[in-house]
Amino acid sequence: MRGFDYTRDMTSKLQLKRPLTLLGGLSAQEFLRDYWHKKPLLIRQAIPGFKPPVAQSELLALAQQEDVESRLIRQRRSKVAAHTWQVEHGPFTAADLPSHKQKHWTLLVQGVNLHHAGADQLLQQFNFIPYTRLDDVMISLAGDGGGVGPHFDSYDVFLLQAAGQRQWEISTQCDLALVEGMSLKILKNFQPEQSWVLEPGDMLYLPPHVAHNGVALGACMTWSIGFRAPDYQEIGQVFLEYLADTIALPGRYADPQREASAAPAWIDDDWMDRVDKALQGIRWNKSALRNFLGEYLSTPKPSTFFSPPAKPLSRARFAQQLQRGHLALDARTRMLYRNPEIFVNGESFTARGQDAILLKQLANERHLKGAGIKDLEVLIDTLHEWYCAGWVHLKTSSLP
Ligand code: SIN
Ligand code: CO
Repeated sequence: MRGFDYTRDMTSKLQLKRPLTLLGGLSAQEFLRDYWHKKPLLIRQAIPGFKPPVAQSELLALAQQEDVESRLIRQRRSKVAAHTWQVEHGPFTAADLPSHKQKHWTLLVQGVNLHHAGADQLLQQFNFIPYTRLDDVMISLAGDGGGVGPHFDSYDVFLLQAAGQRQWEISTQCDLALVEGMSLKILKNFQPEQSWVLEPGDMLYLPPHVAHNGVALGACMTWSIGFRAPDYQEIGQVFLEYLADTIALPGRYADPQREASAAPAWIDDDWMDRVDKALQGIRWNKSALRNFLGEYLSTPKPSTFFSPPAKPLSRARFAQQLQRGHLALDARTRMLYRNPEIFVNGESFTARGQDAILLKQLANERHLKGAGIKDLEVLIDTLHEWYCAGWVHLKTSSLP
């Protein structure tokens, strides 16, 4: 793989070939070859005895936070369709949120991994798929009969049943027409082909565009491990903004051969030709593309706020404590690389030698032993800045 010079230890490489309970006994390599982005897979007891590390009360509290994206969906009976779905957007007050005894509602809380270490750890179990593709953990809480209706997603998703039971119906139908005038994207003609009841620990993988409908059988909680696949239009638009800051087009419009005009409002061919020629000078090379992609893919979501330490250690104290401890990236930090650039939270810089080796290790493992950093003064400066910004945390214990 070009640009990939980080050597994972042998154990990590072998993991990719080892059967995983999480994938129903398939190795990560087999799953990617046979199912990923291709066909659905039901995995009974993907996480045996799964006890959701996020309590219902914690989820309800997150739905009341300003910096957390949440939606409350209620189904109502309707004369036009079997149901209508009513959507409200958070943050909610405690009084807005239904009790688990009520029926036909579901609360969806997005990006729980950014706020809860347990959800972040769960997301990390899927790191056989690159961080550039992992999106977030969304958790849904539902009263009996609750769900978001038959729909399809444009992204791959693992639906992990966390508590209670949910019935999932799926269909590989080509008819993806939607009910008009509904605030949720609901399929007009959902024709289920397969159906299962998922128990805690069971997981269903769905590639994009597979129609599905999940209905809570009693109160339940479902975790969606979602993936990121920006459309090219979005990438193109952001790339053009990026280029705007980097292009250098020399010269200025000039028309020494101009003739007198009988139609002064006309934008003549001279304008068209000269500007066309000048704009042909907008070029980018692989380095510009790499830097753009790295900054774009490592930019946290717009609602992300970091929490810097209240009383940060001085640079000297930080360096001292680092020797005995380790660093852990904050769950909100996005760190990627492509030689010789390191990208972190939308910023890029060049790293070489031992600094680069250690930073790539931090990016891949999301933590780093402090002992190996001694004497790397520039690296310590950088890490101290990240620590002061809340991008990375200093842990006093050594890594297990
Ligand atoms: C849910 O958890 O109810 C919705 C998840 C999905 O269908 O993508
Ligand atoms: Co869905």
